[in-house]
Amino acid sequence: MTTVDGPPVYNPLDPTYMADPYPHFGEMRDGDPVHLSLIDLWVLFRHDDVFRLLRDPSLSVQDDNIEVRDEERYAELVDAAGGELERSTSMLNTDPPDHTRLRRLVSKAFTPAAIQALRPRIQQLVDDALDAMAARGSGDVVTELAFPLPFDVISEMLGMPESDKEQIAAWSGTLVKSLDPMISADIFTEIVAASDAMNAHIDEVVAWKRGHPADDLMTAMIAAEEDGDRLSSIELRDQIALLFVAGHETTVNLIGTGIYDLLRHPDQAAILRDDPSLDATAIDELLRFVSPVQFSRRITLADIEFGGTTIPKGMFVLAGLASANHDPAKWGPTADELDVRREGAGQHLSFGSGAHYCLGASLAKLEAQIAIGTFLRRFPDASVAGDPEWNGRINLRGLEHLPVTLGG
Ligand code: HEM
Repeated sequence: MTTVDGPPVYNPLDPTYMADPYPHFGEMRDGDPVHLSLIDLWVLFRHDDVFRLLRDPSLSVQDDNIEVRDEERYAELVDAAGGELERSTSMLNTDPPDHTRLRRLVSKAFTPAAIQALRPRIQQLVDDALDAMAARGSGDVVTELAFPLPFDVISEMLGMPESDKEQIAAWSGTLVKSLDPMISADIFTEIVAASDAMNAHIDEVVAWKRGHPADDLMTAMIAAEEDGDRLSSIELRDQIALLFVAGHETTVNLIGTGIYDLLRHPDQAAILRDDPSLDATAIDELLRFVSPVQFSRRITLADIEFGGTTIPKGMFVLAGLASANHDPAKWGPTADELDVRREGAGQHLSFGSGAHYCLGASLAKLEAQIAIGTFLRRFPDASVAGDPEWNGRINLRGLEHLPVTLGG
């Protein structure tokens, strides 16, 4: 936070930000809740403003509707991308009517029954990961459990062939940096290269899958593409990329930071450990407290007013999900406390709201419930061993490493 004279300036590059952004959000909510940043993007920090922004159908998610931006910075990014910025046709970046069509096609596979059917497989993956850690009496919660679990689950759901996991994970880790509010031209060049490589890889996988149909999500989506013009081949590729990346780069933060926060709050860990009936509420509370995706975004198609400030047409607006999740005006004086019994915890905005509400919400909750619940009950004496390492991402904020000893 940089305060000269006048309103505070939102500065996610502040050295204290990564370990704890919440005091920064608090200052912004109090001092400048509808904030125009130095790079011509707006940021909303208050719960009620964020909620309204997300649910307003008159707003867009398509970058081509941005009319006002920091032109110098934009020119640098276009240059870094090799002269052209291509918009992904994933549903996350698409307005109706295309959004409605894309979401309907993909959501057929995300029925509650289909998700619940994954329960035994998720439990098995968790047990295998925890067996390996138990044998050593210690481990890294992120690299051994929080990352591989959602990565394997979404790979298996899609029916991705066994391939170079490390390479794919590296591309994906670079790609998600594009969600951060501030990126340098150098990082942007890396993001474009990773995106090209990932797209080429998915094209190859789709070509392979056409010859190897199976009972999986990718085969179902290919059938939709082949069945007339409901899904073009670029749309097919972009939905697969979205599901794959959104399927693991977010849930890793819920499981990794969630376990860290429980280990830092042993009283809350004990309450949850002793009462499995709290599992669902506790996962919602961890979603609120951790906020694995800290921001979403919309683009204004007309002037719009928040708390007396007018945001003009054609602006990029960040919705501060994490800030909304810690706003005392919504959550009361305990907003910054972890309370696994919190009433109404499910009203958090971690999955967004409105037409783009997270399609994988029930899958993410199931994975987290099994991973966190099993870890907690199997290792009641676990504790953090050494300094956890943050991943350096402003939006998909989470841990890169969480060393633990398992005790007992
Ligand atoms: C803890 C884990 C997760 C979090 C915090 C999360 C969060 C979000 C958020 C904030 C949005 C955008 C909402 C908006 O702008 O209104 C979103 C959209 C989406 N998420 Fe998730 N997500 C998670 C896990 C997953 C998983 C496991 C999958 C799929 C397997 C998934 C697939 C999607 C898709 C497809 C969309 C786009 C929906 C649309 O545009 O209609 N997410 N998610």
